[in-house]
Amino acid sequence: MLILGVETSCDDTCAAVYRTDDAQVLSSVVSSQEAVHAKYGGIVPELASRRHLECILPVIEEALAQARIGVEQLEAVAVTTGPGLIGSLLIGLSAAKAIAYARSIPLVPIHHLQGHLLSPRLNHPDLPYPHLGLVVSGGHSALYRVDSPDRIRRIGETRDDAAGEAFDKVGKVLGLPYPGGPNIEKEARGWQGKRIRFPKPRFKTEGFQFSFSGLKTAATQYILERRESADPIDIAQVCFSFQETVIEILAEQSFGAMEAEGLQAMTVCGGVAANGTLREHFQKMAKKYRKCVFFAERKYCTDNAAMIAAAGAAQMMARNDSIGDFLGLNACAQVPLGS
Ligand code: KG4
Ligand code: ZN
Repeated sequence: MLILGVETSCDDTCAAVYRTDDAQVLSSVVSSQEAVHAKYGGIVPELASRRHLECILPVIEEALAQARIGVEQLEAVAVTTGPGLIGSLLIGLSAAKAIAYARSIPLVPIHHLQGHLLSPRLNHPDLPYPHLGLVVSGGHSALYRVDSPDRIRRIGETRDDAAGEAFDKVGKVLGLPYPGGPNIEKEARGWQGKRIRFPKPRFKTEGFQFSFSGLKTAATQYILERRESADPIDIAQVCFSFQETVIEILAEQSFGAMEAEGLQAMTVCGGVAANGTLREHFQKMAKKYRKCVFFAERKYCTDNAAMIAAAGAAQMMARNDSIGDFLGLNACAQVPLGS
């Protein structure tokens, strides 16, 4: 089966073609809006929807062209219906509906985080179930128990900011280009010296939660106080220390959750999972605790439509039910997964 994936939940316009017979991504096109939002230091929702509107059809056409297929060969369309920016989601959903309606093929609504959670399967097709899934992106930081592609239970999440959000904020205060994550990683590689001890959250309640707002505030204060007193700061040292602390918080909770749930394997996905130092740290921990860790391929860590198409295919296989009247289907800005 050939399935088209469409993803426009945030600031990237994405389309991909996935072939279920041999689990191959035939094309994955991402039109980034980084340049549109860079000067504002964050995403401007209205500008994001306008740009999606300009890009959605050329991006879908490019995905079909790269896959060397015509629209008439498509057998299903999978599309992100939430969570995300409502204006952005609606552009992708409308385009997906139009194609599915015109071609009389099924439309599969996909939760953005289900797409991320299944993204490591694109390069690890034999990944075992059940496993723990860590999603770390600009909008989310959460832990899931994944028993099958459509049996997913949330077992922990952030109480405040997402890890990527903290990376972006600290990057902005340091004057680094948007998004902060990859630029903080680059700067951190230049530091070999002493680490600044930023605080880590301590939770009184049971469970596996994250919190990044205290760390974000501590790092921001450190920078601003030194700037005011004209004390020199070393950007590389701040980036290194902040990044190490985020990674330790994520790893401690994730490996704790794996132990508590009796799981042997874990996946790590979402934009922050592209971080090379995070990947090295998790590999080391996995070796120490005799667990397996699988990462989404770097190009599938940040938002993309290949993960949405693959999730759509898995969903169709798992449920085998018809999608019904999809013209009435709506997008939803906030919708939990597996709570
Ligand atoms: O998954 P994603 O593309 O969008 C959301 O669904 O949120 O993630 C974007 C986030 C941004 O916050 C960005 O700073 C972060 O992922 N990110 C990174 C790296 N690459 C992207 N964070 C740390 N290190 C990286 N190399
Ligand atoms: Zn995402």
